[in-house]
Amino acid sequence: MSKLITSHLEHISSFLAMEVFAKAEELEKQGRDIIHLEFGEPDFPTPEIIANVGIQSIRDARTKYTHTQGIEDFRNAVVKKYKRQYNVGIAPSQILTSSGSSILLYLAMRLLIPPGDEVIMTDLCYACYDNLAMIGGAKPVRVSLRLENGFQLDIDEVKKAITPRTRAILINSPMNPTGTVLSEKCMRELAELGIPIISDEIYGDLVYEGEPYSALNFTENCIVLNGLSKFYAMTGWRLGYMIMKPEWVKVAARVHQNMMISAAHFVQDAGTVAINEAESECRKMAEEFDNRRRFLLKRLKEIGLDPGYNPVGAFYVLLKYPDQSLKSLDLSMDILEKCGVALTPGIDFGAAGEGFLRISYANSKENIDEAINRLKDYFG
Ligand SMILES: Cc1ncc(COP(=O)(O)O)c(C=O)c1O
Repeated sequence: MSKLITSHLEHISSFLAMEVFAKAEELEKQGRDIIHLEFGEPDFPTPEIIANVGIQSIRDARTKYTHTQGIEDFRNAVVKKYKRQYNVGIAPSQILTSSGSSILLYLAMRLLIPPGDEVIMTDLCYACYDNLAMIGGAKPVRVSLRLENGFQLDIDEVKKAITPRTRAILINSPMNPTGTVLSEKCMRELAELGIPIISDEIYGDLVYEGEPYSALNFTENCIVLNGLSKFYAMTGWRLGYMIMKPEWVKVAARVHQNMMISAAHFVQDAGTVAINEAESECRKMAEEFDNRRRFLLKRLKEIGLDPGYNPVGAFYVLLKYPDQSLKSLDLSMDILEKCGVALTPGIDFGAAGEGFLRISYANSKENIDEAINRLKDYFG
């Protein structure tokens, strides 16, 4: 049989969370009541103050292309945010705005890693990291995270993974899927390696215990990625940004202009207000996530499913399940069929995720409570 014209992209996988969701939808159509704990997005609507600005902005015909790096007001808001939150000084000219951070992740890797060269990333990590690297022709080299170490990154293992072809290290703190935050020591030691860091800080506002850090607190030799999807409950608006060294920005802007032209003007207006005026409103959502986190951990312990580490950020808990002979995808599908709880299989996040399920607590306390009751019956 002749090869498909698209066969060079055969190894790019889809999100298994989406497969679980598709199955859940099928069951819902049959009238089943499904509790969704597989999603990585806030269950809250975008705060009204933000939405209203977006609507008004459309009415005011702010519906055209903008500067490829983003409108000045938005970039100034980001500058103030990084000063306020991390006490780092950046210039608006170092910022590139786009339609969500996902495309910027791809762009960051394209920028720093020529085809054939390597990027170190963790195994566990957000499902698309290795795919985005490979789409750009880079080779992902994965360093395992282990429950026994509280999913902290072992700097010696990072050192072992470095080769003459290593061009960047990609980190994410707080991390999807574990909800862990990299320690200050780890961040400092990573920076000291002298290899450019790509730091995905999209959950940086969702830290419930201890201090959040930006890679910029430790080095300028980095690209910071961030976006408004999570803390500001704006997933569908598609707004993200990256911060980088002045010498990288010109190239990044050129590539971005070719690929995206710009983010939508009215979305940037909404994002400006989100960062400048809506953080206290958004903080209330973060407080509710923290309530649910504590509640979920308490309930899991009560039914004998203690995750065995402290997830202090984002809105995820990674749970090691009792029967390790089962595959996480099979188990999540079985749990979905038998008790109507949708969870993400750990294998979605890398080989080290086999044996785990990711629980998202971006759902109401009532639903989390009912899901735990069902899981109690399931695991007996
Ligand atoms: C770690 C991480 N980075 C990036 C993204 C994508 O965010 P965006 O909506 O800005 O594309 C997600 C979404 O789940 C994520 O978990």
